[in-house]
Amino acid sequence: MSRLASAVIGLSIVLSFAAAEPAPAADGAAPAAARTTVSLPQGYRSWRHVKSMIIEPGHALAALVEGTHHVYANEQAMRGYAKRPFPDGAIIVFDLFATVKGDQAITDGPRKAVIVMQKDAKRFAATGGWGYEVFANGKPDAPQVRDGAREACHACHLAQKDRDFVFSDYRD
Ligand code: HEC
Repeated sequence: MSRLASAVIGLSIVLSFAAAEPAPAADGAAPAAARTTVSLPQGYRSWRHVKSMIIEPGHALAALVEGTHHVYANEQAMRGYAKRPFPDGAIIVFDLFATVKGDQAITDGPRKAVIVMQKDAKRFAATGGWGYEVFANGKPDAPQVRDGAREACHACHLAQKDRDFVFSDYRD
């Protein structure tokens, strides 16, 4: 199986926990959700819009992110798009919606997830300096990735190692 395909399967497993309550940690310490290191950014809808894309059924990423997504970048992330690598503090949001087709038009349906990358070279050293998280339905209290970012996310973003692990580009 290709690395891309296995990474997609890894992530769909992560996302299939979308409705689950945070489970207590095995050591009886903080609940698993409390261990997440990336939080849902506030106000990202007023950040710079980088690009949008519609992933249709059958696309290699469909199991993961079928629907329409809009990518937003904060100021630090815009510096990284201008000249990689991205500085600490950069946050990129992948805002994912169901796609609704009708009357010869395609529009956004309900929000499916808010997907986040946050740069902190020290904190996230194990995953190229990036923290990764998925907030199902855009709800801040249900992070899906927690400590699974290396397999669920970074394994695929590794393909962009020479571009600081970021696939997208900004266009004026
Ligand atoms: C199988 C490959 C794959 C996996 C797994 C994957 N991504 Fe991505 N990701 C992509 C691709 C391809 C894009 C570019 C989409 C575009 O150009 O609009 C992307 C874009 C992004 C972006 C926008 C910044 C960028 O790199 O362009 C964020 C944020 C993001 N992904 C977060 C995540 C998170 C969090 C996970 C894990 C839960 C994850 N990704 C797992 C392939 C993947």
